[in-house]
Amino acid sequence: MNLIYKKLIRPLLFQLNAEHAHDLACQFLTITEKSSLARKCINLASSTKHQSCNVFGLSFPNTLGLAAGMDKNGAFPKTFFSLGFGHVEIGTITPQAQPGNPKPRLFRYPKYDALVNRMGFNNDGADAVVNRIAKFYPKGKRSAPLGINIGKGKNTPIDQAQNDYISCLNKCYNQADYITVNISSPNTPNLRELHGKNFITPFLQNLIKASRACAKKHNVALIPLLLKISPDENYKSLEHIVCSARDIGFSGVIATNTSVSRFENLNFDSFESGGLSGNPIEAKSVQVIKFLARLTDYRFPIIGVGGISSVDSAIRKLDAGASLLQIYSSLVYQGPFFPASLNKSLSHRSKCWI
Ligand SMILES: Cc1cc2nc3c(=O)[nH]c(=O)nc-3n(C[C@H](O)[C@H](O)[C@H](O)COP(=O)(O)O)c2cc1C
Repeated sequence: MNLIYKKLIRPLLFQLNAEHAHDLACQFLTITEKSSLARKCINLASSTKHQSCNVFGLSFPNTLGLAAGMDKNGAFPKTFFSLGFGHVEIGTITPQAQPGNPKPRLFRYPKYDALVNRMGFNNDGADAVVNRIAKFYPKGKRSAPLGINIGKGKNTPIDQAQNDYISCLNKCYNQADYITVNISSPNTPNLRELHGKNFITPFLQNLIKASRACAKKHNVALIPLLLKISPDENYKSLEHIVCSARDIGFSGVIATNTSVSRFENLNFDSFESGGLSGNPIEAKSVQVIKFLARLTDYRFPIIGVGGISSVDSAIRKLDAGASLLQIYSSLVYQGPFFPASLNKSLSHRSKCWI
């Protein structure tokens, strides 16, 4: 299957610009999402014996998840689960719908198996996305956890960002199995300022307060809150952010988002501006995971993401201290059956803790 994708389908898709190819793939996903028969067939082709695990109180059928950004509007979760993902993270969603940045805003670099994007949180808005999930894939009827990744609207000033996050959190609390607080996308003006010392602690405290209030109001258990961090922060800042998150009551971190750095081995003059993902960020994200895992004594769960494109790169993340993994760019380069083959290779490994 992977060979068919690489030899036949990818060359055709790569004739189109990257976002057109994504939109075309989404049209196909719209069909599979509506057809349980189609998903059963996909599932047959993708099924492997999985290594299930428990992380932050949730049960995952395997370690591999879909990273945020691929299914921003929660339109295709059932299809992604049928491809073998053990969790799917939808979003980033913002309180109101927004179109994102002008096109073109997504670029491929096949020589490096890399992408650069400056999408800018294009999404249908929290209400529409949560209603879609509630209608077609409601909590309690899922085969695996569904995370919702939340952010701030483009025009919201950074000192009011917290209101956007709390608004999204309130709207999605009843449907999310976990919520990711995304402060690390490089394409929303000033968003990464939330990593700063002046913002981070009260910001995280207020989100935990809002989460407790939601759980009480709806009479449900607290759901895990995760923080998604940037690979471009220095270690001192990461230490402050992650220790604050842990001490305040977050359940884990997702490391890492895309990078604005252009690493030495790249001909970076030819790169567009935006967040770099795929192979070139693998080493950096492993370094960050290793640092955070040691810092927290391997007791604060980390979802490792960034440049996983082979079983070796997946194992490097697990060895660095990640409990779960996510991918995005390798789906573009290796195709929809890559998750199944990666799961198969990882299935002998029982590296789940907490
Ligand atoms: C086109 C594109 C859109 C993305 N959108 C989001 C997003 O909305 N929210 C988010 O937290 N991460 C987003 N990401 C980052 C991914 O979730 C992931 O952290 C990053 O791509 C590194 O993983 P990879 O190397 O496997 O692609 C996006 C990435 C890409 C390539």
